[in-house]
This record gives sequence, structure tokens and C-alpha cells, in this order.
Amino acid sequence: MTLLFKVDDARGRIWKSLFEHHAPDIEVRVWPDIGNPLDIRYFAAWQPPRQLHERFANLEVVFATSAGVDQFDLDALPGHIKLVRMLDPGIIQGIVEYACCAVLSLHRQFPLYLQQQQARCWQDHLLTAAAQRRVGVMGLGNLGRAVLHSLRAFNFQLHGWARSHKCIDGVQCHAGSDQLETFLHQCDILICLLPLTDETRGLLNARTLDALPKGASLINLGRGGHLKEDDLLQALDSGQLSHAILDVLNDEPPSPGHRFWQHPRVWLTPHIGAMTAPQSAFEGLLANIRRHQAGEPLQGLIRREQGY
Ligand code: GLV
Repeated sequence: MTLLFKVDDARGRIWKSLFEHHAPDIEVRVWPDIGNPLDIRYFAAWQPPRQLHERFANLEVVFATSAGVDQFDLDALPGHIKLVRMLDPGIIQGIVEYACCAVLSLHRQFPLYLQQQQARCWQDHLLTAAAQRRVGVMGLGNLGRAVLHSLRAFNFQLHGWARSHKCIDGVQCHAGSDQLETFLHQCDILICLLPLTDETRGLLNARTLDALPKGASLINLGRGGHLKEDDLLQALDSGQLSHAILDVLNDEPPSPGHRFWQHPRVWLTPHIGAMTAPQSAFEGLLANIRRHQAGEPLQGLIRREQGY
């Protein structure tokens, strides 16, 4: 059984050594040292090469090294090849840390205090209790749920929205396009953790941003494609939104002239919400390979009709 990784050299070396120590029956190769392409049964990458299945005729499973799989063209991948997303506990931890850090920064008005510091202005503002602050999460998969679970400790009013109805303790859940507006009306801070699909592309647009309470803030931890960037700029400029914290953009990096770079009410980070670390992801990946070898269902298998 041969598993080919297409990852950076440093992580490639770690993956290889983890398999050598814990699963020596699985041969690991690291791109571009492919060897005989017919040996490759498993392939793991963030950005897949073109014509994947034509290059590797015996390919059975593609493991995305990311939680999102929108970078894969599902229509171009033959039906017999399974696509699996990464279920690394390290990704969950990273997203939870980022989301809590961003929510708390907004809740405690750090963007405002940072601007005040730059203007040498020493001025306090009344605190809003967390119990008065409504935080909404779009996307209630393992990431959205983990974020909501962590935010509960701060006593925020929590809302969740997903395509289909979910039940989460301490969270008012909303489902489907019928309840999207009701959900948005109640989000002082909105976090996007949706998968990017044909249904969710551009979902953060003038209409949905307008449905947020005036002065709300946005945290995008999903994909750049969820957000119509010009609509966000307009909502910030009109005062409809007060701040945006964006870890993902349509173009990464954005062009040097992009308004986000210098916008006083936008904080940007370069897609670092979470990063797959072989050390934390190895156990789950190996368990999935073992499941596949035993003919058992894979965890994190992408349902093609849903796109996630
Ligand atoms: C990163 O964006 C991921 O999908 O894991």
C-alpha cells in the first residue's frame, strides 16, 4: 500500500517518519518523488495536481490535508475515488483559538482601543456584559460546534445556523434559507465556518450583511468565496458593520492595492486559522486508512451530492 503526500518538505519528512515508526506496512512517498505511479493507492494534499486520477490509475482514496475540500473539483474526480477531509484535532483547536480570540477582541472593543492608542487618546467606554452580546456561528459541523462549545464558557448568547436542523446545548439553532434572516437579525458578532459549496458561495453579501443588527461585526474563517468583498466594504463604510476580521480572502494574498490592507476597520490574517500538523493529524489519518483496508466506512468522507 503506497501513500503519496504532496506537502511542503518539512511536513513531508514528519509524515514519512510517523508512518515508518507506527505503520511500516504503508509506504510513504513525498512529491515529487512519486516512483511508479501505479503503486499509489492513497494520495494526501491540500492543493491537488491536475488530472489526479489519470496520473495515478490505481488511486482509491484522496485525503485532503485540510478541513475544507473546495479546492478539489468533485466533478472531475471519478466516482470510485473517495475524497476525505482532514479531521485533525489540531485544526479544531486552532479554529477554536482563533474564533475565541476574535470574538473576545470584538466584544472588548480592541479594534477601537487600538485606534485610540494610535491617536494618543485615553478614553474608556462602557462595558457590555457577555450575556448581552449575541454571537452567531454559520456552519454547525465539528468546527462550528467546537467554537460554540468554547464560547459558552463566556456566557454569550449563542446562535447557530446550518443547512439542516441541529440541536446543540445552550445554542439557539436555526436552519435553512427560511430561517437565515431570523438568525442574522440576532448576531452582533457573526462567525462564518461554512464549507464552500455552490449553495454557500457569496452568501455573505449586501442582503445578508444588511440583515445583521447595525454595528455588527464579521469574522470569516470559512473561505474567501463566501464573502462578496465589495459588499463588505460598503457595509463598513456605511456604518452598517463596525468591524471585520478576515482569515480568508478571494485572492490570497490580496492585490497590493486592495482596500482591506489599510482599512481601519478590517483586520487581516493570512489564512492561519488552523494548520494541519502531522503530529496531531496522524492518528486519525492512519485510523481512516485502516478502516479503508478493512472495508469499513471512512470518517470525514465527502458526500458528493452535498459537496462537503
Ligand atoms: C484550511 O483552510 C482548512 O480547510 O483546513
